[in-house]
Amino acid sequence: MSSLTEVLSAEAIAARVGELGRSIAADYANRDPVLLGVLNGAVPFLADLSRRLSPQIEIDFLSLTRFGTEGRVGIKVDSATSIAGRHVIVVEDIVDTGLTLSYLLGLLETRNPESLATATLIDKTTRRIVDVELKYRGFEVGDEFLLGYGLDWNGRYRNLRSLWAVLDLAAFQADPDMLAREVFRRTADRLDP
Ligand code: IMP
Repeated sequence: MSSLTEVLSAEAIAARVGELGRSIAADYANRDPVLLGVLNGAVPFLADLSRRLSPQIEIDFLSLTRFGTEGRVGIKVDSATSIAGRHVIVVEDIVDTGLTLSYLLGLLETRNPESLATATLIDKTTRRIVDVELKYRGFEVGDEFLLGYGLDWNGRYRNLRSLWAVLDLAAFQADPDMLAREVFRRTADRLDP
């Protein structure tokens, strides 16, 4: 059995991002939200989602640090946009325990946005430690470790167009290139006449 499996194809992700875009566009008609992406993982999702929305929206990013086993969070690089009085949608790649997003929402509340909502591509509901409201969510998944479409292993694999689950973490840790080989193999298959 392979240690890896593709769980969401690029086409399935694109279709779901399109649906989320339509919901957001309908909910925010005439409201010009700011999409605030959490670096680095939210980049592919935010890029695709934002291109489903009106040209009036704004985009900004911030990055966070996590320290300690209890998952304390801090701001590493702050966004430049003033969000006071604005409609803000925080865009995340994945919500796992919820600690990161709940910290961030608490912080952003103190900046007095007109409204604050969340969009995440992946929701690992069963792993939640703190409750956070996810207004827009792409897919609910189990607790497998996922890679691709923003999700990384030591900084790698964020640029994959589809999403993969690691079924055997020990085998993957021993040979993290295995996913690169699998992706190259598939690409080569597609290019084969
Ligand atoms: P939370 O604070 O536990 O919700 O953590 C969210 C962060 O954990 C994400 O932004 C990811 O960086 C990381 N993370 C959680 N699950 C995965 C996964 O399956 N693959 C890659 N990163 C993950």
